[in-house]
Amino acid sequence: MLNLNFNPFPVLRTQRLLLRQVVEADALYVMKIRGNEEAMRYIPRPRAKTTEDALGVIAMLTNGINEGKSINWAICNAQDPNEIYGIMGYVNFYPQELKAEIGYMLHPDYWGQGYVPEAIIAVEKFGFESIHLELIEAKIDPRNDNSRKVLLRNHYQFDRLMQKEMTFENEELDSEYYVKKKSVG
Ligand SMILES: CC(C)(COP(=O)(O)OP(=O)(O)OC[C@H]1O[C@@H](n2cnc3c(N)ncnc32)[C@H](O)[C@@H]1OP(=O)(O)O)[C@@H](O)C(=O)NCCC(=O)NCCS
Repeated sequence: MLNLNFNPFPVLRTQRLLLRQVVEADALYVMKIRGNEEAMRYIPRPRAKTTEDALGVIAMLTNGINEGKSINWAICNAQDPNEIYGIMGYVNFYPQELKAEIGYMLHPDYWGQGYVPEAIIAVEKFGFESIHLELIEAKIDPRNDNSRKVLLRNHYQFDRLMQKEMTFENEELDSEYYVKKKSVG
């Protein structure tokens, strides 16, 4: 059975990063990240254009945590945890399959420094060991080469291509799915 109780919120640490809960005081950072056109290019969600939009996003993230439906972390500078580079977490759980969908994004100012590859290791460890996941799935837009690179380097395996899986802003979108199983032993 999955352990979806995230109270108290699990703070995670890596060499350069601190992963903590996103709170209302982070609204400006969340607006910059979720409002950035480049960062949102392959993420079929409305862009956060105002701090009110960002507060709406934060409320959604908070509800997900409280209801055990999702868990997202602010990816922060370990030296200054007020500085948020991006957001990452399990955006959906499938308890019957002991599976979760992982998602991640950084503000473009922080791309190319290996932050998501570093954070994903801590988030996976938490997923497999504390949530008791057996499988982590990632869904990407096939045009999102940067995201695919992160997954392949991190030993995710291609699972399937779903053509025209959804429509967003009048565009029919394909999805590629990648999976990583809990390693035995
Ligand atoms: C995908 C993403 C999370 C990668 O995170 P990251 O921490 O930058 O990962 P890496 O540092 O390993 O860089 C991955 C690749 O991004 C590319 N990249 C880095 N900086 C870049 C830049 N400024 N512009 C374009 N591409 C860049 C590089 O090709 C790099 O691959 P390389 O190591 O072979 O050169 C990040 O690009 C991002 O947030 N993208 C927007 C949100 C998104 O699409 N999320 C995934 C949804 S499924």
